[in-house]
Amino acid sequence: MAEFYDVYQKDKWKEPGYRLMDKFSLKGKKGFVTGGAGGIGRSVAAAWAEAGADVALVDIPASKARLEPLAKEMSERYGVKIVPLYCDVSDKAQVDALGEDLVRELGTVDIAHINAGVCLGGDDVDVPYETWKRVIDIDLNGAFMTAQLAQQIMRKHGHGGSIIMTSSLSGYNANFIGGGPSPVCAYGTAKAGISELARYMAAGLAPYGIRVNTISPGYIWSGIHEGVMDKTGHDMCLEVVPIKRFGTPDELQGVLLFLASDASSYVTGINIPVDGGYSIF
Ligand SMILES: NC(=O)c1ccc[n+]([C@@H]2O[C@H](COP(=O)([O-])OP(=O)(O)OC[C@H]3O[C@@H](n4cnc5c(N)ncnc54)[C@H](O)[C@@H]3O)[C@@H](O)[C@H]2O)c1
Repeated sequence: MAEFYDVYQKDKWKEPGYRLMDKFSLKGKKGFVTGGAGGIGRSVAAAWAEAGADVALVDIPASKARLEPLAKEMSERYGVKIVPLYCDVSDKAQVDALGEDLVRELGTVDIAHINAGVCLGGDDVDVPYETWKRVIDIDLNGAFMTAQLAQQIMRKHGHGGSIIMTSSLSGYNANFIGGGPSPVCAYGTAKAGISELARYMAAGLAPYGIRVNTISPGYIWSGIHEGVMDKTGHDMCLEVVPIKRFGTPDELQGVLLFLASDASSYVTGINIPVDGGYSIF
């Protein structure tokens, strides 16, 4: 009986040298972030770099002019390897090539943020099939292919890891501000799919020491809003946000560091909303 009880270490904080803050370190870890040129992606990559990880910033080939200087700046600031890699996540051949690029540049993958996404106009219940297909191809199929790539590298290299996927409050709330239907039918469906995919992956990959979780941002000011949201839309969004402002990408860094690191070693298959209280309603 006592032997069985001893399986569980108690009062770890009493051990010499034990420091909780060490669990947040990503020193020596290798990671990638899709949508790495975007507001949330580059903020998370910076958090992981500050914590000591080498990180690949992954984005579409057209982002080259933004991604190269970004990688250089981040690398110089944090003294880790930051590499720009190009991949349209909706294209299977490009995702396969990404796998080769990641192993060549980083050696392996311990942490992955599956984050690339688009939210297109004209996406209410009458959404044209072409729009529906494009959103599902990037936001859901792309998430599936890149998450699968991450877990396959982790398993092949015989170590565990942490995969985090970006869902959205739109993935579980079809009501828009003021009670009307949200005009993101395909987007919300894709994000709901991501949350369920993450739960299936969490269950299937737990035996391999791979954890899978999602975050659901609320209104985070980023490239996804710039140029498309006016002041009226902005103010309408705030009606349902108790904190009464948009969030900023740096406000996701803490959650993304927690989920990537050993500080969350017993956390898998969950969704963490980061939404200024939107999901209270
Ligand atoms: N900002 C928000 O309010 C908010 C809320 C909920 C969820 N999200 C999600 O967060 C994620 C990041 O969005 P963001 O706010 O940083 O927006 P963003 O537009 O700044 O970044 C998105 C990035 O994804 C990249 N991307 C688009 N299509 C791609 C493809 N086919 N292959 C690879 N990369 C591609 C873009 O080039 C861009 O750099 C998205 O999945 C988005 O749906 C954002």
